[in-house]
Amino acid sequence: MQEKYHIITYGCQMNLHESEKIAGVLRRMGYEETETKEDADIIVFNTCCIRENAENHAFGNIGALKKLKKEKPSLLIIVGGCMTQEKGKTEILAKKFPFIDVMFGTLNLEELESLIEQKRKAKKRVVKIREKEGEIVENLEPYRTSYPNAWVNITYGCNNFCSYCIVPYVRGRERSRKAENIVAECENLISQGYKEITLLGQNVNSYGADGSTGATFAELLDKVASIDGKFRLRFMTSHPKDFNEDVVKVMQKHRKIMRLVHLPVQSGSNAVLQAMNRRYTREKYLAEVKMLRSYFPEAEVTTDIIVGFPGETEEDYLQTEALVKEVDFASAFTFVYSKRTGTKAATMDGQIPEDVQKERIMRLVALVNSLTRKKSEKYLGKTVEILCEDFDEKRGYYMGRDEFGRMGYFKSEKNVIGEFVLLKITQANGISLYGEAVKDLDK
Ligand code: SAH
Ligand code: SF4
Ligand code: F3S
Repeated sequence: MQEKYHIITYGCQMNLHESEKIAGVLRRMGYEETETKEDADIIVFNTCCIRENAENHAFGNIGALKKLKKEKPSLLIIVGGCMTQEKGKTEILAKKFPFIDVMFGTLNLEELESLIEQKRKAKKRVVKIREKEGEIVENLEPYRTSYPNAWVNITYGCNNFCSYCIVPYVRGRERSRKAENIVAECENLISQGYKEITLLGQNVNSYGADGSTGATFAELLDKVASIDGKFRLRFMTSHPKDFNEDVVKVMQKHRKIMRLVHLPVQSGSNAVLQAMNRRYTREKYLAEVKMLRSYFPEAEVTTDIIVGFPGETEEDYLQTEALVKEVDFASAFTFVYSKRTGTKAATMDGQIPEDVQKERIMRLVALVNSLTRKKSEKYLGKTVEILCEDFDEKRGYYMGRDEFGRMGYFKSEKNVIGEFVLLKITQANGISLYGEAVKDLDK
């Protein structure tokens, strides 16, 4: 019988895509996927350390495997991802969970197969973490599970050192892939029938900043959008310090590029932005949104916001609220600041008490939700083109998104996943839109 793998992923899109690469490695080794931990012969935790609660989840779930491992000693337990790259974390994990078999990091994913082989031979735990990033490894073919969407890395790592953020410490310095490799991967995906490509990087706008790739981000976007075929193209994450009009001009040239920009603002207060080392001001941010909407008045902007950063006053917080209203975000990921050891902000004065942080996040979430709800209402009666992505088995609805990223649900007799569908919106229920498919565009 074929041995089975099960991967548990925490964190961002980048990590979800990395799990597809891990799956690729395991499948080439002869494993097949299983939905349940109990059925698995190998379990991989692809961890995240962006906030304390991400780590706590992983600690809890790894700990819960103790019993399973006892019942089935042949089960291989593997831990990788951003947590193992964190200073001192591997030792803590090793001590806390003696049953972990293999640990690897974000910077040596390509070694996973050989580490598993070593473990099989030696019987001893195998731990290998690279401290420094190496050359980009191009031949790690992912096993994709997100059809019709495909994620494509354009950069790895980050050079920005926002003062709260651990990513530069666990993902290494920024490296950009060669434009020709990215374009070739995208062409291949389109020819396989993928309908939406998301170009991924911590700061896509600094793609090729070291001059090593033969293209700027705007040029790369232009090349990918010029590939033949009907598909959508998006990119994330844009950094407000580098987002520029060249990119928007390329968006204007190509209808394939979604009218949606994820532009994390983090705070609406200049004092906080400065302490965060974000290197832009509230005014610059607002000017960028204005520039984008001068090209596409209907363009949607989504964002990330942190509340309770050290030193954040009520006045600072209220400036964030005011900015949120002014931009009228389509949606926002909102976070309570989480102290990360080793970052600059961890040692700053003025850490904010938990009750104040909680109270601010609740107010912010209510504000963001009210904006999203208002936007939903505007959709009523409209017909939008959506790309069907999934079927929600529990509720019996197909789900897709329009080019502004809004989710719509509908019923269909036949499977339309991967097809563009015209949806007439008949019901706006909070953030969810419901509608009737009026015509399959493909037909
Ligand atoms: N590279 C992207 C985001 C990476 S992390 C960018 O620059 O925007 C995703 C989000 O997590 C960040 O935008 C930020 O809002 C949040 N985040 C990062 N570190 C955090 C911390 N220490 N506490 C709370 N939220 C954090
Ligand atoms: Fe973190 Fe800032 Fe880099 Fe984003 S740009 S990953 S928030 S350091
Ligand atoms: Fe992503 Fe978490 Fe690492 S957000 S880059 S998986 S720390």
